[in-house]
Amino acid sequence: MRLLHPHLVPAERLRSPATAGRHARLAQLAGRRACRGQLAGRLVGAGTRPSPEPDPPIGNGRAIAVLAAREGASVACADRDEAAAGVTADLARAEGACAEVIVADVADPQACAAMVEESVEALGGLDGLVLNVGFALGRGITGTTAEQWDATFAVNTRAHFLVSAAALPVLAPRSAIVYISSAASLRAATGAPSYDSSKAALLGICRQVAREGMANHIRANLVVPGLVDTPLGRDASRRNPARTARRLPFGRQATAWEVAYAAVWLLSAEASYVNAHPLVLDGGATAFG
Ligand SMILES: NC(=O)c1ccc[n+]([C@@H]2O[C@H](COP(=O)([O-])OP(=O)(O)OC[C@H]3O[C@@H](n4cnc5c(N)ncnc54)[C@H](O)[C@@H]3O)[C@@H](O)[C@H]2O)c1
Repeated sequence: MRLLHPHLVPAERLRSPATAGRHARLAQLAGRRACRGQLAGRLVGAGTRPSPEPDPPIGNGRAIAVLAAREGASVACADRDEAAAGVTADLARAEGACAEVIVADVADPQACAAMVEESVEALGGLDGLVLNVGFALGRGITGTTAEQWDATFAVNTRAHFLVSAAALPVLAPRSAIVYISSAASLRAATGAPSYDSSKAALLGICRQVAREGMANHIRANLVVPGLVDTPLGRDASRRNPARTARRLPFGRQATAWEVAYAAVWLLSAEASYVNAHPLVLDGGATAFG
């Protein structure tokens, strides 16, 4: 039995162009307005990093955008890599959704506010926001420079604060914000303290945003994934083979689709009483030690 999203095709299956056309026509028949679905959303880091593999897995940001589009969202896909955001937008359009590409490097504080403005203009409003971007620099405490620390925090933490600050006043009442954190925020596992700390700091941002958003019934939550089989994850494993050497719950990593289901649920009205909550999505790994 499938309780959630019973009408959806399995997330792992991207729509073929023929099915996509049919889906778009059905959406039109159902009266969906152009460029405005049940959810309007925006993703920072909506691309997936390029991979040397012939058939790489999908990344978290891309999977969230595709699944949100399948749920009726219009999506503005923001990324510093225009081509990567473009691929995501094409996949969202194949779901019958309206998708825009926004090029922004969120390491630049001014780009954070500009991106919010552009998204509001492109979508005609905003009622969902997913902050997915994140990366790691440095190895260990003594192997991390101040520059690496600052660069990591600029993208993984400061950008989330700045985008949230720009978005809170313009988000429609009953909007939802989702931050993509990491189980690295819960224990020292990656060997990259700048990454672990920047992800831990997201909980503080999320809580405060949830508190300030309450007046407008705006919710803010975190998805806290363990290991996920994405191009980013595979890059990390190439650099640190010990990453996946331990026993994994269910004998595997999560997929980006599993992260996406959690994010889209938190965005939706189905999660209307879930707020300031870190949803740990690690197959139970942190519980088992
Ligand atoms: N893969 C895992 O094991 C795992 C586990 C836990 C959490 N996460 C988190 O999931 C998130 C992303 O996963 P993904 O697979 O989508 O990663 P990804 O690297 O494939 O995609 C991230 C996107 O962010 C974009 N980006 C990077 N820096 C940017 C910047 N300064 N401004 C704008 N865009 C920028 C990249 O171009 C890329 O398209 C990260 O926050 C990561 O920490 C991943």
